[in-house]
Amino acid sequence: MQNIKKDDPVWGFVADEAARQSGHLELIASENHTSNEVLAALGTCLTDKYAEGYPGRRYYGGCAHVDEVENLARARAKELFGAAHANVQPHSGTQANVACFMALLEPGDRVLGMSLDHGGHLSHGHPKNFSGLFYDFHAYGLDKQTERLDLDAVRDAALKLRPKLLLAGASAYSRTIDFEAFASIAREVDALLMVDMAHIAGLVAGGAHPSPVPHADVVTMTTHKTLRGPRGGLILSRGDWFKRVNSAVFPGGQGGPFMHAIAGKAIALREALEPGFRTYAAEVVKNAAALAATLTEHGLRIVSGGTDNHLMLVDVSSVGSTGADAETALGGVGITCNKNLIPYDEQPPMKASGVRLGTAAVTTRGLGVSEMETLGRAIAEVLRAPKDATVLARVGATVAELTSAFPIPGRG
Ligand SMILES: Cc1ncc(COP(=O)(O)O)c(C=O)c1O
Repeated sequence: MQNIKKDDPVWGFVADEAARQSGHLELIASENHTSNEVLAALGTCLTDKYAEGYPGRRYYGGCAHVDEVENLARARAKELFGAAHANVQPHSGTQANVACFMALLEPGDRVLGMSLDHGGHLSHGHPKNFSGLFYDFHAYGLDKQTERLDLDAVRDAALKLRPKLLLAGASAYSRTIDFEAFASIAREVDALLMVDMAHIAGLVAGGAHPSPVPHADVVTMTTHKTLRGPRGGLILSRGDWFKRVNSAVFPGGQGGPFMHAIAGKAIALREALEPGFRTYAAEVVKNAAALAATLTEHGLRIVSGGTDNHLMLVDVSSVGSTGADAETALGGVGITCNKNLIPYDEQPPMKASGVRLGTAAVTTRGLGVSEMETLGRAIAEVLRAPKDATVLARVGATVAELTSAFPIPGRG
């Protein structure tokens, strides 16, 4: 940042984004604030280096040092998650999923994954995504009453459909996922099990959510959400799957790895191995529970009645709003979040009946339970009176107090 020429508009755009991040409270559940060390790794000369292939087997010369970086990142990922094999090259979570589908399936094979409308991800079978285009995706959903996964229904669907792959993991599900039960269903129908733990990777790393690693054939994740690393993907696998996974990542779906991002992943993985990360993961969950409880006390309905992890879906139709309007109103007072479908939503996705709130980024800033209560009251006030100038000014001032009392660590 300090090396970008100040007369290039790019500098100004980045400075504006830095100011936005520092002056707003980030409640987008898939975002976080990385350490300065991770940021620094992303700005190193490693971005110059082509390194197609894997350590010790590259298609280019001069890879001795980047080999060490990649080996270290792989070793740390294996240690952190107790995995047999790690591939740290995927450019993103979607790329990691592409690679695993290619490794485990033939085009046209049947997959049973979580419904996108109930919290699954686009790369789990959206008809316009490669996953939906190339594989035969079927969906399990949430129970209408409890708004939770019903594993008996998942089992029934698996018995009926006999998928080659059972896929667990979500973008907007606030409850603990029982990976052991998914593994038992997969075994019963002779399916492979893939877990996409993009959202909860940091909670798993910090011991705040049960790990899928002992139960799944392959586990994909993003490194930039609760894991608090650089933008990217990562794949863990067991048995011999790593061979097929490696060739599905490269040359299957990607070219040269982003070595600067892999250095950033290595640093984030080291940070996640440090004892403080367990405390961080526990606090993320505690903060989410406190925020959900405060919103409930103030008359907002939380999907499934609460949260076990870092996120929650708030049904804003309970205060006569839509997700889109709520996102705009909260954005106006410096609280950033995203509209989100709730299970069995009658609104279209661009309107939606919910907002998704997550506590990973605000916990990185050091906000705790008492600040969650303040924030919960503020959010409820805005959602109840989104056009009331007095309310908006008061909440804007509260957000300004919180952001200045809790600066993003390491950012000046
Ligand atoms: C469950 C899940 N998988 C995959 C992804 C995709 O990650 P990326 O945006 O890095 O491709 C996301 C992103 O939000 C996600 O929530």
